[in-house]
Amino acid sequence: MELNEISKDTAEIAVASTGPAKKVFLKTYGCQMNVYDSQRMSDALAADGYVATDAIDDADLVLLNTCHIREKAAEKVYSELGRMRDMKAERAKVGREMVIGVAGCVAQAEGREIIRRSPAVDLVIGPQTYHRLPEALRKVRGGEKVVETDYALEDKFDHLPQPKRADVISRGVTAFLTVQEGCDKFCTFCVVPYTRGSEVSRSVAQIIAEAEKLAEAGVREVTLLGQNVNAWHGIGPDGSEWGLGRLLFRLAEIPGLARLRYTTSHPRDMDDELIAAHRDLPSLMPYLHLPVQSGSDRILKAMNRKHTAADYLRLIERIRNVRPDIAMSGDFIVGFPGETDADFEATMELVRAVDYALAFSFKYSPRPGTPGADMKNHVAENVKDERLQRLQALLLDQQRAFGTSLVGKTVEVLIEKPGRQAGQIVGRSPWLQPVILDETAGEIGDIIRARITGTGHASLFAERA
Ligand code: SAH
Ligand code: SF4
Ligand code: F3S
Repeated sequence: MELNEISKDTAEIAVASTGPAKKVFLKTYGCQMNVYDSQRMSDALAADGYVATDAIDDADLVLLNTCHIREKAAEKVYSELGRMRDMKAERAKVGREMVIGVAGCVAQAEGREIIRRSPAVDLVIGPQTYHRLPEALRKVRGGEKVVETDYALEDKFDHLPQPKRADVISRGVTAFLTVQEGCDKFCTFCVVPYTRGSEVSRSVAQIIAEAEKLAEAGVREVTLLGQNVNAWHGIGPDGSEWGLGRLLFRLAEIPGLARLRYTTSHPRDMDDELIAAHRDLPSLMPYLHLPVQSGSDRILKAMNRKHTAADYLRLIERIRNVRPDIAMSGDFIVGFPGETDADFEATMELVRAVDYALAFSFKYSPRPGTPGADMKNHVAENVKDERLQRLQALLLDQQRAFGTSLVGKTVEVLIEKPGRQAGQIVGRSPWLQPVILDETAGEIGDIIRARITGTGHASLFAERA
């Protein structure tokens, strides 16, 4: 699931320095991990005297946190850089400086090539080296062009400063927490193993400490993040090996943390303890994002997913057996090389069998350096378009039916923020749908019982029960 399909977060930093503070404008593309990373970069920059601004015109430093997952996402960065080059030139005329930095997965994948294509860029920094950001900026101010894309040997999480309490609060009552980064699965369509490196799990102690700090600042819901979050493992305080299920049991003990979620999972890493966590932990929300990509075994094999459609369906059955109200979500790719009409029909069949509450679907985009890009039998663009339309129509029907099935029911809602319209507040259902309520229904951070009165576009309307 990616950021452009959910809400866009802007990282904010409280003013905490003396003298005229330098200002940073940070723009985030891509997935939730980039949202988390942008916050950690903000924290690192705050410690270095920067204040966040959401007005690019005021910014001394513009930092794009980029995504490389599909061609469109990567190309967006270059059009944005074109605009920034012009802005930088205008500034130069009046003697004002503007530093342009590119972070994230495009930075990691393309490195120095970015500066070659866009010479206005001063700094390219990959996700493994964000703790070196202040030092890299000092070099830039000294007149160097800096490219930092090595995989750092030191643990960046040991070196990145923790956010201040005020910053945590300003970011809201829900928070992301990266527990695992990188991927060793090498699906043949995917750039992530190349942009995020091999799988690394953060330590139990680090994760618990960070979650406790979030809870103390007033965070009610934590979403654990990882490219393969359910492959997370670590050594617990008892000296035994923990998996994600065990970690969730421990996090559920933290006072104040009312809701836990995790994303994104791989079907091959759903172990018994994680399934048991769905059975036994009331704070683990009944929602699971479990991408399958295709319903055709032939295509799953070509994608190197290492499981069949039947394996996936069996797994969901096991999870539903222990947690019948769990809402399923997934990702799909249509038009992978070699996908025939029959393969695509198998995907439609699987979608009908699962019945998704929410799903994200994409046309296959060949990515440089991945095995898929070199495969034969690429699917014509118009065929991809047609398949995507059919799949999305089916998924949208399922999403609407799921929303409608909740009308008249009473559910728990975590109130998150003021609504777009005056007098409204917005919360989330256990199944991640935005729920719109009258502002008198409760305070931000409250979990209230609300009766669903109707459905909107991807959201629900409710009143306090
Ligand atoms: N780690 C997650 C997904 C990460 S990328 C997993 O294993 O499922 C998020 C989604 O982007 C993927 O699930 C996939 O559906 C989509 N995606 C990845 N590479 C793509 C490509 N080359 N073309 C189209 N969609 C892609
Ligand atoms: Fe990409 Fe596959 Fe790894 Fe997910 S599991 S990040 S799709 S390579
Ligand atoms: Fe994009 Fe990198 Fe996330 S490629 S989806 S920002 S891991």
